[in-house]
Amino acid sequence: MSRGGRPLRVLGIETSCDETSAAVVAGRGDDVALRSLVILSQDVHALFGGVVPELASRAHLTSVVPVVRRALDDAGLGPRDLDAVAVTHAPGLVGALLVGVSYGKALAHAAGVPVVGAHHMEGHLFATALEHPDAVPPFTALLVSGGHTLLLDVAAWGEYRQLGATRDDAAGEAFDKVAKLLGLPYPGGRHVEALARTAPPPRGGKPRFARPMLRANQAPDDADYYDVSFSGLKTAVLHAVRDAERRGALDAERAGIARDFQDALVETLVEKTYRAARAHGRTRVVLGGGVACNGALVAAMRRRLEPRGAAVFAPTPRLATDNAAMIARAGLFRLERGETADLSLNAYAALPIPGLSGERRASSG
Ligand code: KG4
Ligand code: ZN
Repeated sequence: MSRGGRPLRVLGIETSCDETSAAVVAGRGDDVALRSLVILSQDVHALFGGVVPELASRAHLTSVVPVVRRALDDAGLGPRDLDAVAVTHAPGLVGALLVGVSYGKALAHAAGVPVVGAHHMEGHLFATALEHPDAVPPFTALLVSGGHTLLLDVAAWGEYRQLGATRDDAAGEAFDKVAKLLGLPYPGGRHVEALARTAPPPRGGKPRFARPMLRANQAPDDADYYDVSFSGLKTAVLHAVRDAERRGALDAERAGIARDFQDALVETLVEKTYRAARAHGRTRVVLGGGVACNGALVAAMRRRLEPRGAAVFAPTPRLATDNAAMIARAGLFRLERGETADLSLNAYAALPIPGLSGERRASSG
């Protein structure tokens, strides 16, 4: 099926946040197939309106063994059939990461195969490639999740240049906070999107919310040319909600506020991504992370980029949100480069993506 011998089989384990997931991929180079994927979402956090780290660690502890067993069974493999065990070791909740890292190391040791430490955000970069053979470098990447918002230029796998990031809230975090303001459940992104779809057509004229960090006269050397910021937008939504409440009009205006918020966030992300693709001459744009599930974002990205000769690739929701398939895929890449770890592999709350350059500040937020 591929160059250089039989396909390599890698088990991936992901426990960085509130999904316990395991998956098996097989292949070499860019010819890699998904053999199984199990994702167990921890619903308990919805009760608290956010992820409770201690509860997340405990839930991973009870589910990691059966989730991994199921992924291996679905792939028709035993641990000894694997070429490596890849496990997310950064970034994320340390207690949650440690569950996967400890179990991954133990399993790899027992099976006599190497363990590979995978970076969660590098995983998101690889997710789309499992579904679209053309979602491979060189490309412009926009990673938008609950914890991160990163605009990268990807010259090759393992060669990442950070162009922009959020200066405050991540895109998913902004969706979740706005959902809360609008009285929607956690995690709120898909609820905001669904509500926005029911909004009446916008009145023409000036949009209700300004586009954060988007000015017509921005130049590529400006510090905010690629960066984004969503905390001001969130505050503007708060004021709009309070104002509507005072007038007793919140029920009538809720959907319009959701739509106008989403439009502002989407337009900002699309414009920054377009700038990045144009500046680097990229004809492919790859989206990743939970916010890449957002249909309005993907559609707007296509409307802006495709007429200008760039193809836009977005993963299906199962691979956009946290999953172990992307971890197995990123792990396979690192395995092929001989970058295996040993039993000293540790978990880190924050760590730059391996091969990342151009970072101006911590990539979390
Ligand atoms: O990548 P992910 O599963 O987890 C992290 O690594 O953070 O992303 C989760 C985030 C949440 O903030 C969630 O509200 C958001 O993705 N999200 C969405 C949609 N589906 C999930 N945001 C906007 N529209 C959606 N349809
Ligand atoms: Zn993620």
